[in-house]
Parts: sequence; structure tokens; C-alpha cells
Amino acid sequence: MVSFQAILVFISIFFFVNQCVSTNEVQFYQNYYQKYGGDHIIVTDQGKEVCLMMDQYTGSGFISNQHFGSGDFSIDLKIPNKNSTGVITTFYLTSLPINGDPGIRHDEIDFEFLGGDGKYTLNTNIFANDGGSREQQFNLEFDPTTDFHTYRILWNQYHIVFYADDVPIRVFKNNTNYGVNYPTNKMHIEATIWNDTNWVGDVDWSQGPFKAYYRDFSINGCQYQESNPQECYNNNYYWNTITNLSPDEVQKYEDVKAEQMTFSYCMRNNSMNFPECMLN
Ligand SMILES: *[C@@H]1O[C@H](CO)[C@@H](O)[C@H](O)[C@H]1NC(C)=O
Ligand SMILES: *[C@@H]1O[C@H](CO)[C@@H](O)[C@H](O)[C@H]1NC(C)=O
Ligand SMILES: *[C@@H]1O[C@H](CO)[C@@H](O)[C@H](O)[C@H]1NC(C)=O
Ligand SMILES: *[C@@H]1O[C@H](CO)[C@@H](O)[C@H](O)[C@H]1NC(C)=O
Repeated sequence: MVSFQAILVFISIFFFVNQCVSTNEVQFYQNYYQKYGGDHIIVTDQGKEVCLMMDQYTGSGFISNQHFGSGDFSIDLKIPNKNSTGVITTFYLTSLPINGDPGIRHDEIDFEFLGGDGKYTLNTNIFANDGGSREQQFNLEFDPTTDFHTYRILWNQYHIVFYADDVPIRVFKNNTNYGVNYPTNKMHIEATIWNDTNWVGDVDWSQGPFKAYYRDFSINGCQYQESNPQECYNNNYYWNTITNLSPDEVQKYEDVKAEQMTFSYCMRNNSMNFPECMLN
């Protein structure tokens, strides 16, 4: 028989641990605010979790308070678990003006989950003062609809690395010496759930509302200062000292390219327009 005291000890350990977690975790509103979607964004768990919802009336999205010049950006995300054809769930960096004309030429680094009929595709893209079209797509080795996983963008002057959990799935090097475009502008973070009929097809709204869950709102980034943009290249920021993948990461990256990458823009006929496709 479990004694009353033992239960008390158990309860107090439980609450102690919980308190530790809550004091260490960054709250959503410390780093982000709502961009659109009215009541379709729901902040729960004392700001530690956010649900972005989409139905036939609207999608929703949030945006970082700050602009950055480099960083190691990540978020934990669980994408909608319904049959979600046409639903796009994102985490990305962009230089686009927040409520301005999108234009075409800008910088952007995208994670975009494209919902399908009982499946999904992870699309990634990079814009570098241009119209982008640098898609690479993946079938991850885990199911992103059933659990939270960490999606991470490392961005410094040497390379951009996309990670899914600890696995580098895409590397885009700064090869400006070879005429390759590379992002140069300050960027902020956005996360959205939206739809685009032309790109990924019609949404079956009867399957909704579609819900994406986000956690871990800490940000490791260099706040961009107009007066001193070079500051974001400073080696005092740990992410600026990461100039290459580790040997272990190289191995994982090779495996992803061989087994999980389902499409690359370099396979397109117009790939000669992208000098990086000719480099190794
Ligand atoms: C879905 O996309 C269409 C255009 O493709 C747009 O007109 C519509 O407003 C979008 N619906 C929502 C809920 O965002
Ligand atoms: C890209 O690398 C070059 C050196 O090869 C460097 O001069 C330049 O600042 C880098 N660009 C960015 C945007 O980090
Ligand atoms: C998913 O939704 C589509 C319509 O968007 C429907 O045709 C299909 O049968 C659904 N699949 C499942 C597994 O429910
Ligand atoms: C790409 O090239 C192949 C043959 O080289 C051709 O069959 C195909 O139509 C081309 N696609 C486009 C979009 O031009």
C-alpha cells in the first residue's frame, strides 16, 4: 500500500519539476506576435504552446518581434493530422515587408509542409534577392503529424542548413564567389497555416478545422542593426563559428539525399540558371 507521505512526496516532485520547466521555457509573446487569423490562433499552456488553425474562413500566422542578420532558428512543430490536401504549414525566415507589397525579389528560407491525401511533402525553398524556385522536397523518416519535431534553420555567412531534429536535410553554401546568389537582407521569422489552390490543390474544408501546434519559442539570433550590419557576422555568436557539417552530420546528410529527397530544382530543365546546381 502506498503511504500518504509517499504520495505527498510524489506530488511535490511533480510540481517542482513542472515549475522548473515553466520558468526555463520562453513564452510565445516574448518573441512573437499574431500576424493574422483573429481567433484562429490559440495560445495555451501559459504561452508555451500555440495552435494555428485554418478553416474555410481563414488561416492564421505569427511573426517574430525582431529582425535578424544571422542565427540558429528552430521551433517544435506538429503538423495537422487530418486528411489535409491543399493545407500548407510553415516555419520560415523572410525579408518581405511585414504588411507591404510582397514583390518578387527578396530573401527567404522556407520549411513548408504540403498536406496530401493521407500523406504530406516537406518542401524547402531559398530566395536570394530573387524569385526563389530553389525547391527541394523530402519524405522524412518520421511522421510529422503524430509528434512534435524540431525544425531548424542555421543561417550565417558560410551556409544555410536545414535540420529536421538533428539531421541536416539541406545545405546551401555561400558560393557568391561562383556567382551564386545568397541572402543578404535582414529577415524575420514567420509561421503560418494557409492554402494555395494553384500550387497544391483544393482543400476539402469538411476535413477541417486544420490545426498545427508549435512549441519552444526561444530564438538564437543576432538582432539586425541598420547602423552595424557586420555585427551579425561576429564570432561571439556561436552559430557564426559553425562553418561546416561535422563528419557525423555529413554522413546523415548523404543518407537523406540518397533516401529521403524526392525532388530538387536542380533536376529541372532550367537548372543552368542556377550556378549552384553545377557545383558540388
Ligand atoms: C484559400 O486559397 C484561396 C486562393 O487559392 C483564397 O481565395 C482563399 O481565401 C483561401 N482560404 C483561406 C481560408 O485562407
Ligand atoms: C559570402 O561569402 C563572402 C566570402 O566568400 C563574404 O565576403 C560575404 O560577406 C558572404 N555573404 C554573406 C551575405 O554572408
Ligand atoms: C481526403 O480528402 C479528399 C478530398 O480532398 C478525398 O478525395 C479523399 O478520399 C480523402 N481521403 C481520406 C483518406 O479520407
Ligand atoms: C524538359 O526536358 C525534357 C527532355 O529533355 C522534355 O521532355 C520536357 O518537356 C522538358 N520540360 C520542360 C518543362 O520544358
